[in-house]
Amino acid sequence: MSSNRITIHRPDDWHLHLRDGDMLRAVLPETSAHFARAIIMPNLVPPVLTKADALAYRNRIVAALPAEHDFSPLMTLYLTEGTDPDDVEAAYKEGVISALKLYPAGATTNSASGVRDFDRAMPVLERMAALGIPLCVHGEVTDPDIDIFDREAVFIDRILAPLRKRLPELRLIMEHITTQDGVEFVKSNDTNVGATITTHHLIINRNAILVGGIHPHMYCLPVAKREKHRLALREAATSGDARFFLGTDSAPHTDDRKESACGCAGIFTANNTVQLLAHVFEEESALDKLEAFASLNGPAFYGLPVNDAKITLEKRDVPASFADKINTKDGLVTVFNPGFDVYWHYAE
Ligand code: DOR
Ligand code: ZN
Repeated sequence: MSSNRITIHRPDDWHLHLRDGDMLRAVLPETSAHFARAIIMPNLVPPVLTKADALAYRNRIVAALPAEHDFSPLMTLYLTEGTDPDDVEAAYKEGVISALKLYPAGATTNSASGVRDFDRAMPVLERMAALGIPLCVHGEVTDPDIDIFDREAVFIDRILAPLRKRLPELRLIMEHITTQDGVEFVKSNDTNVGATITTHHLIINRNAILVGGIHPHMYCLPVAKREKHRLALREAATSGDARFFLGTDSAPHTDDRKESACGCAGIFTANNTVQLLAHVFEEESALDKLEAFASLNGPAFYGLPVNDAKITLEKRDVPASFADKINTKDGLVTVFNPGFDVYWHYAE
């Protein structure tokens, strides 16, 4: 491998928001142009709660896919206190779903039906542990007394560590970790714990949101933290450690919803993530670990094969150009701007 050219198995995105309707049709091609598979978040309005909901949503996604794109959506169910373990078992055994998603109630966009009392979710969590169904976790407490920058660390202490002890067989994925605490928690577990890391959390710290004015397009949840945490995430992502893999959390909101007195959380990175990752991994002198992070570790955790197809990226003298907005019938969606030029391109 020369340092200007790299060939890797086609990547997957292990955490993605596609929405529905016109927004789905506008954003799906931005993902399916780059990724072979993605774990599709269930936080629609209303949420994806049952096997029937997941099947119907999957059909809508497949119908919206450009004919020339090869892409498989991997569906999830939204865990509530009322989730039926038998429906989950049937959905998993029939190949309709790949995981469940745990949102603590009120933690983020469309999370009102999430879990408040974890005891009430135990029957379904026990069934998942027995069947090996992964639980994707939005790891933030929602207690108003907890500072927003501490909510991930407190979630680990109050919820995740006790859940691990109670159900060590449950396969847990800490989604979009943003802290050194998250990295350390994952590293302290040898089995059944993994984590996704977003592209943007490898690039920005909280200054990007607040310095020189409020930058709503840099706001997502969990919110970016201070620099030492970004560095810990970079170290984890570029280490090759199989417990860490890419989940972009690419989350479209139209500009009018972002640039508002109460702006929505979410950063859209579907169309520039792959090239940005090459840039980041090169900066860390870890281009040889990009494939593990983007294409190998995720399928290994989910027990799926690596994609057959390959992609080749090359570094050129001219910067790559990316759309800075995605046009949707609902309005424009701003694409994540890393604040620097990227010289990595797909090879012809
Ligand atoms: O920033 C975020 N946006 N974080 C989430 O957890 C949800 C997502 C969304 O759905 O917009
Ligand atoms: Zn998300």
